[in-house]
Amino acid sequence: MKAFIIGSGTLGSTTAFLLAEHGLYDDVVLFDPYEPLAVNHAMDLTQAFCLTTDPTVRAGSLADMAGSDLVVMSAGLRSKAATPDFVGTAIEMAPLIESIANGLKTAPNAIVITMTNPVDALSYLLCRLSGLPERQFLGFTWNDSLRFRWAIAKHFGVKPEEVSAYMVGEHGRSKLAVWSDVSIRGEKHTFTPEERDAVAAVQNGFWDEFMKVSNLRTAGWTTAYGCLQQVRYVLGVNEGWCPCSVIDGAHSAGRPARLGPNGLVEAKELHLAADEQALYDASVAKIREMITQIAQGAGWTI
Ligand code: LAC
Repeated sequence: MKAFIIGSGTLGSTTAFLLAEHGLYDDVVLFDPYEPLAVNHAMDLTQAFCLTTDPTVRAGSLADMAGSDLVVMSAGLRSKAATPDFVGTAIEMAPLIESIANGLKTAPNAIVITMTNPVDALSYLLCRLSGLPERQFLGFTWNDSLRFRWAIAKHFGVKPEEVSAYMVGEHGRSKLAVWSDVSIRGEKHTFTPEERDAVAAVQNGFWDEFMKVSNLRTAGWTTAYGCLQQVRYVLGVNEGWCPCSVIDGAHSAGRPARLGPNGLVEAKELHLAADEQALYDASVAKIREMITQIAQGAGWTI
């Protein structure tokens, strides 16, 4: 089983570490437009594993994507890590995105997990540009639901694993918490407006603090560990609903989904409250607009 990881910065290297360490792929290939970075991490990881599991972690070119079972898109522009202008960044990355889409044609069965922001738009565009089946494109939105569960748990003094909750829509500012479908210790919880505000304050407080100390470093370990979980759903090790961005008509948006070896099996039907539905529709409209803007800026007809 081959995993091909695009980008060898914080997200790519931490993901390579976990995928190799957990023995899910025997051939883990790191690619970076700045080749020495991929080579550096590959040498470092190979040495780290030499006494134990000994998976192959190597640096490769885009040609090595051929035949991959998993492709993780984590490449970004480091100088742009803190910019909210995801559309501008994506347009700047257009030549790389085109090369990746061409590379995907040589990996027709690959499950493609896009972590690079804007996740939803890029996952959708990679699908359209490569021509591979929609079900194989599973954008990474895990952290949103994770942070929501974590904040609920903090507020109510329970463990995050005792909370069932998820966020939907854009992996970005317009994402929304589905307050109407939260369970704590197996019991459905109806939130008061004060409880909602308190949970949102915990969640936003973490993020504000994290951004303050981040110095352009994104949430690497959380993302890599979430990617490992998402891959485990694909491989059938984890069962149930995995929040991720799935393609639905002319957009891709976050929602819980059942996954399997061919990618998306089924997206959860959303029974949103009226106020949630309005926010969800606005979020999807925003994703759609970003897709259009990036495609226009890059000169792609999709
Ligand atoms: C996050 C970034 C990786 O969710 O998008 O933390």
